[in-house]
Amino acid sequence: MLNRFDARLSRRSLLRAGGAALAASAVGGGSLAASGGGDLVEVELLAKQRMQRILPEPANASPLVTYAERFPGPVIRLRKGQRLRATLVNGLTEHTSIHWHGIRLSNAEDGVPFLTQPPTKPGERHVYEFTPPDSGSFFFHPHCNTVELLGRGLAGALIVEEEGGPAFDADLVCMIKDWQLDKNGAFGAFTSDRGASRAGTFGSVSTVNGLIEPVIDVPANGDVRARLYNVDSTRVIDLRVEGTESGGGAWIIAVDGNPLPPRPLDGWPMGPAMRLDVIFRAPKDPGKTLRLTNVYSAQPKPLAVFRSVGTAVSNKRFTPRALPAANIPQPDLKNATVVPMAFSATAVAQIFDDALLTSLPFADSLCLSEKTFWAINQKSWPEGGHERLPPPITTLEKGRSYVFELANLTPHLHPIHIHGYTFSVLSSDLRKVVPHHADTVLLEPKERLRVSIKADNPGDWMFHCHIIEHQDTGMMGYIRVA
Ligand code: C2O
Ligand code: CU
Repeated sequence: MLNRFDARLSRRSLLRAGGAALAASAVGGGSLAASGGGDLVEVELLAKQRMQRILPEPANASPLVTYAERFPGPVIRLRKGQRLRATLVNGLTEHTSIHWHGIRLSNAEDGVPFLTQPPTKPGERHVYEFTPPDSGSFFFHPHCNTVELLGRGLAGALIVEEEGGPAFDADLVCMIKDWQLDKNGAFGAFTSDRGASRAGTFGSVSTVNGLIEPVIDVPANGDVRARLYNVDSTRVIDLRVEGTESGGGAWIIAVDGNPLPPRPLDGWPMGPAMRLDVIFRAPKDPGKTLRLTNVYSAQPKPLAVFRSVGTAVSNKRFTPRALPAANIPQPDLKNATVVPMAFSATAVAQIFDDALLTSLPFADSLCLSEKTFWAINQKSWPEGGHERLPPPITTLEKGRSYVFELANLTPHLHPIHIHGYTFSVLSSDLRKVVPHHADTVLLEPKERLRVSIKADNPGDWMFHCHIIEHQDTGMMGYIRVA
């Protein structure tokens, strides 16, 4: 499958001479709707049901919900400094919105229905406009009825190209996701009480870019940058690239889009919504392959194969080089206030008192979930309850620095995500932490993890578990920065 790369083109000329086409073909046909050069990139994202084959025949094509003709799509690519104007067109039969996961943008563009914008009704349009301040591999998805919509494929990649930095011979997007399909290709239940109250409901078939164990062509002897996304709603994965001739495997060069000194990809579990940018050297001989494998489960699971094609690129010895450093505001740790955040099951939780809830004028009852299995600081706020606004978990003073002490009081993993900010990940009482930046951190059972922000971005920002069923059933709240 997939096209051949012209291995002689440099990364820069690839981008100029059709980076859009490259990006689209690299993910197996997702279309890029970008237009306009210069500093503004415009895209239109029509969210609707589209049939797409996930399972081989004789199964039927599956009723996905996507932002482009095919999952995963589109890949929106910006250069750092470019502005994005994205128009959501709601072709669904329910209201929706787009959340730009990982982008430090202004609160009004954050795409959380009821909290930061009225939901966009069927047939309506909503325009988002922002200039991402950071380069990196980001993505976007809805923020209501997410368990079904993301379960059916409603997500796309937003890539912000850094300025300068090492050149790559290929730049791939790998969107890793399971699907909850029966053998005929029909979707099964996306959630169950049993799953939601434990580790979550797992899909039945694993894919990369919507394909079961695809063969992804890479330029022979090329330095390949692969942007690995966990866009599953539930599954934690731990990836390896096996079979490299350099012996070095793959190297992590960014976490959630944020550069860090290169380190081997040999044990960095990724919860839902987490991303890793990795680099590896493709085999010299055309036809030779590498394997992308998930080793998180007892039985390692092959996900995809990278196959060398074309005339070998004339690269010298492989050395992973760092991306230009991120520019995340540095928290002032000496003067930071510690904010405890406890993630628990509802045995110890209470539902918000009705009197504390603010009713919003544009409320409706779509995707209301009555179930509350989880809590943050002993309060439950199910996703479907977006239209009834509880008080913030905490209010932070704009400009000050804060350390969140994230305490997992449960026996399950929780990928904890903050909107509008990027954490500086500091320390854990369970393991040695590699200092890095991330918008989503994976809490291990019983772990206490310390992360920090400088509260420079005012607004109401969601703070939740990214196992969607946990978010749906109470492990969600927001912080206010004012
Ligand atoms: Cu990726 Cu609040 O979400
Ligand atoms: Cu969770």
